[in-house]
Amino acid sequence: MTRQFEFNPANVSTILEETWLHLKSAAETETHPWRLGNLATVSEGRPRVRTVILRDVQTDERELICYTDQRSDKISELKDSPWMEWVSYDPITRVQIRLRGSATVHINDECAKQHWWDSSPEHRRGYITVSPPGTMAESAVPNLPDYLFDRLPNDEEAQMGFENFAVIVCRIEHLDWLQLRRNGHLAAQFLWTDKWEGHWKYA
Ligand SMILES: Cc1cc2nc3c(=O)[nH]c(=O)nc-3n(C[C@H](O)[C@H](O)[C@H](O)COP(=O)(O)O)c2cc1C
Repeated sequence: MTRQFEFNPANVSTILEETWLHLKSAAETETHPWRLGNLATVSEGRPRVRTVILRDVQTDERELICYTDQRSDKISELKDSPWMEWVSYDPITRVQIRLRGSATVHINDECAKQHWWDSSPEHRRGYITVSPPGTMAESAVPNLPDYLFDRLPNDEEAQMGFENFAVIVCRIEHLDWLQLRRNGHLAAQFLWTDKWEGHWKYA
């Protein structure tokens, strides 16, 4: 796999810029390892983590965006406590990023509508379910109505999925960067106050 750019450790601020560029590219590139993130939330004082797809990045707003079903546990967890962490690792550059901040949930608002209309019919099908996600099932069956087993929904059917669709917008205020290197790992951290401030640290 080839990449348009790598990380240049000449300057710590370059690392931050390259990280956001890489994230933006990951949201647009199906095969980029950072397109998958591990999103952690808090559930009754305990951590809860799951894989999500990075759908969009708003660099100026420091936002990572993913989609989910509004009936999923992570939504009620974020409503109780907005704190989140997001971890991704790229085995090509050998860089792990850990991003910490708080999340807002968008359901049936302008933000949700915009993302819904930008999404594919295949993606929308995932929100037209027989039962709420997490419900006990009697056997190993997909959570899809029979009529959608072998085709994509039309616009009218897809609208039923919109009711279940939620956009999670994670606003980042702390970013840890770690690159594994054979001759000694490199690490940096960045904190947002009213601007980004960063420094190298020992790994
Ligand atoms: C590769 C992969 C990508 C996934 N992407 C998403 C996603 O973008 N949104 C989502 O809600 N769940 C996604 N899931 C499923 C979640 O990891 C999780 O199982 C599900 O959302 C239920 O999580 P919760 O009960 O903590 O809310 C993905 C799972 C895998 C394996």
